[in-house]
Amino acid sequence: MNFWNGRRVLLTGHTGFKGGWLSLWLNKMGAQVTGLALQPTTEPSLFDQLGLEHSLNHHYADVRNAEAVSEIVRDAQPEIVFHLAAQPLVLQGYAEPVETWNVNVMGTIHVLQALRALEHSCAAVMVTTDKVYENREWDYGYREDDPLGGYDPYSSAKAAAEIAVSSWRRAFFSANGTVRAATARAGNVIGGGDWSDNRIVPDFARALSAGEPVTVRNRYATRPWQHVLEPLSGYLRLAQLLFENDGLQYQDAFNFGPDAEATRTVGDLVAECLKHWPGKVYDASPADAPHEAGKLALAVDRARERLDWSPRWSFSRGVEETVVWYRDSRNLDRDGVRELTLRQIQMFEDGTNEAK
Ligand SMILES: NC(=O)c1ccc[n+]([C@@H]2O[C@H](COP(=O)([O-])OP(=O)(O)OC[C@H]3O[C@@H](n4cnc5c(N)ncnc54)[C@H](O)[C@@H]3O)[C@@H](O)[C@H]2O)c1
Repeated sequence: MNFWNGRRVLLTGHTGFKGGWLSLWLNKMGAQVTGLALQPTTEPSLFDQLGLEHSLNHHYADVRNAEAVSEIVRDAQPEIVFHLAAQPLVLQGYAEPVETWNVNVMGTIHVLQALRALEHSCAAVMVTTDKVYENREWDYGYREDDPLGGYDPYSSAKAAAEIAVSSWRRAFFSANGTVRAATARAGNVIGGGDWSDNRIVPDFARALSAGEPVTVRNRYATRPWQHVLEPLSGYLRLAQLLFENDGLQYQDAFNFGPDAEATRTVGDLVAECLKHWPGKVYDASPADAPHEAGKLALAVDRARERLDWSPRWSFSRGVEETVVWYRDSRNLDRDGVRELTLRQIQMFEDGTNEAK
């Protein structure tokens, strides 16, 4: 915790789901956070629900604008960077492939380029996804050294971002070790406050709030589900180790995924959600849905061994906290939502796995 107190942190994507949680967590630990992202596009948004504009030095800027990114980096002089800003949806990648590549690849490159101007030590955690792997429909977990690939534009753009980080690291950063960069690949994340379209948990919360059945698009697809605090704890740990004296060795790619018991189908996830917020289900998986990786699991031995990181909450605990957040936040004002979210962060830090 002390490591973060007063630390200058630049967080891109702070108006999004993962960025909202990470902003609040960094805030709780006393970091000075500068945010760079677009305005929230959902209504509601976690950014508004948590009142984050009052707790960060935040900028609305587009990562496709290299000049704007450089200026913010120059002003913030970050010691730590978390790059989360992205077009993160597979289906939107099909609808807007060029924009997806621009944001996810050129946006990443603009952040890397801006960091080159720093004259003091900086650790950068560049967030990609478990979908960067060439999907072979394997039953076992993908390891960091497995081939990169990507069938759809979102996945392939994130794989390209991995290659860009690796290139900038070797071509520009390794000469003097001022900037240290690692990539973080996490699986499907659940947790309160995600209001994106076409993601199963927000769809569940929206449907049940409206008293309607939840529509399930792909009930047999298997995913490694994890609570948002799990990968965020990995990003924080990785950033700290990268920044510290012997940090050069952590300039690598790291998977952050749940234990094998949490690799479940969408149908299993919905059934678990219904235990905490009962409702009806409508199965609408179309026969000709665009290709989405079917089987995906991550091997996390590297993070366990080198970062001493491991998942804390079981599948059922992660789902419970997620559903509780959506169910209970409906009747809360900003302070109440912030308190509920901080309480979940505190429980996660305390590390107990039992359901309440
Ligand atoms: N949520 C998941 O299940 C999941 C899984 C694996 C990886 N990821 C990755 O984690 C990161 C965060 O995802 P999320 O779920 O919080 O997404 P989100 O859509 O909730 O947030 C995306 C953030 O990126 C910002 N952004 C988008 N385009 C931008 C642009 N052109 N310029 C500046 N900012 C821009 C948005 O303003 C927002 O703050 C992404 O990089 C995503 O690919 C997410």
